[in-house]
Amino acid sequence: MSVVDPILRLRGISKKFGEIVVAADLSTDLLPGQALGIVGPNGAGKSTLFSMISGDLRPDTGVVELDGVDLTGRRAHERTRAGIGRTFQIPRPFEKMTVFENVLVFATVGGGLGRDAAFRFAAETLDRAGLGAHANEAAGALSLLARKRLEVARALATDPKVLLLDEVAGGLTDPEVAELVELIRSVNAEGLAIIWIEHVVHALTATVDRLACLAGGRMVADGNPQDVLVDPIVRELYLGQAVMAEEDLA
Ligand SMILES: Nc1ncnc2c1ncn2[C@@H]1O[C@H](COP(=O)(O)OP(=O)(O)OP(=O)(O)O)[C@@H](O)[C@H]1O
Ligand SMILES: [Mg+2]
Repeated sequence: MSVVDPILRLRGISKKFGEIVVAADLSTDLLPGQALGIVGPNGAGKSTLFSMISGDLRPDTGVVELDGVDLTGRRAHERTRAGIGRTFQIPRPFEKMTVFENVLVFATVGGGLGRDAAFRFAAETLDRAGLGAHANEAAGALSLLARKRLEVARALATDPKVLLLDEVAGGLTDPEVAELVELIRSVNAEGLAIIWIEHVVHALTATVDRLACLAGGRMVADGNPQDVLVDPIVRELYLGQAVMAEEDLA
């Protein structure tokens, strides 16, 4: 039996903001081609975990390895070059640039491609993300779904080994969520490993083969999505909050 090396390895990641523990000696592996979903209450530290993987934020302790390479101590742009692609919870397109230019910047600066290769790869990536028809529009004029697609396209343009998606389905209608799920499933089916943080649980269960719940800086549940969703701790922590939120809206 051969043992598969993880594509992403986290070891002993800890982080506190003042007295708030957002990561408590957190260790986990992501296997090549795996799709891991992460749920957890607001403020659990999910986005912070991505920032510590992408190098936007330094953990207090811990090691991040990508494909056997130790990234600890490397800065964000170096990690992008190494193969960490991430989207942001609040999309940050260059509003006045076109959709194509937005993706081109990431292929060039993030992906390290020369001019011609970057042009080709940016065009390919736009088509892959379903944005070909919007290439020449200003990013700031896009619909929410197209903005989400652009956020994914920018990360894909760096040709990542691992794609980190932070709440890309938030704010979309159900049919729009289905379109985004189709995109993310196809990217994963091509072999790209993903971690997807999302409150829209049905989007996750349609996509991921593993689900974890982050709370109190720990993965309080991690495994088969159907098992994790009925885990009593998860129901209390996460679904309890979702029910409360629905009641608040009523
Ligand atoms: N740079 C920072 N400085 C201080 N506190 C921070 C910082 N970033 C995040 N926090 C705090 O850390 C906690 C975790 O934040 P984080 O954004 O990681 O949560 P999250 O799990 O992504 O939540 P949500 O589901 O609402 O996006 C929150 O209490 C937040 O206010
Ligand atoms: Mg977040």
